[in-house]
Amino acid sequence: MIRWTHDLPSADAYVALRQAAGLGKRSVEAAQVALPNTLYFEACWEADRLVGMGRVVGDGGCFVQIVDIAVAPTHRRQGIGRSITSRLVTWCEANLPATCHVSLVSSERAIALYQAHGFQLCRGLDRYASSDLRPPE
Ligand SMILES: CC(C)(COP(=O)(O)OP(=O)(O)OC[C@H]1O[C@@H](n2cnc3c(N)ncnc32)[C@H](O)[C@@H]1OP(=O)(O)O)[C@@H](O)C(=O)NCCC(=O)NCCS
Repeated sequence: MIRWTHDLPSADAYVALRQAAGLGKRSVEAAQVALPNTLYFEACWEADRLVGMGRVVGDGGCFVQIVDIAVAPTHRRQGIGRSITSRLVTWCEANLPATCHVSLVSSERAIALYQAHGFQLCRGLDRYASSDLRPPE
């Protein structure tokens, strides 16, 4: 049975779900730094297994970003991704100033999911977006 919590998962579980979902590599050490800095975490569990997640990070006032939306391949096309997105957006609307800039970076295939929640395509710039690790100095 699926259950929802706001509890942070272990860094190992977070890294494992990112990897299973095909998202870029993040080290367990990096996740140990990152997770406690989360503003809001939405976790979907089946028994003790993390099968879906998403989180809000940022300054909590002017700029936040929705990141890490991922559903395990075994649990896709059941509405979990839509529910995660909806829960994160609902939290943002209830807890952030109306002028807060809420953004996310989408994979090509997930654009429709986010457009259905009010996000609009815009141009942006980022670094190392398509590589797993920062190149050597
Ligand atoms: C994107 C993702 C989170 C969707 O999770 P999900 O639980 O399967 O999604 P849902 O069942 O709630 O479907 C919601 C919508 O997502 C989109 N979607 C989901 N999987 C898709 C796929 N394989 N191809 C295209 N669109 C897809 C569709 O728009 C779908 O709406 P529809 O059912 O009306 O067609 C999941 O496929 C995933 O983890 N992908 C890999 C990681 C990723 O790309 N994350 C987003 C990066 S920001």
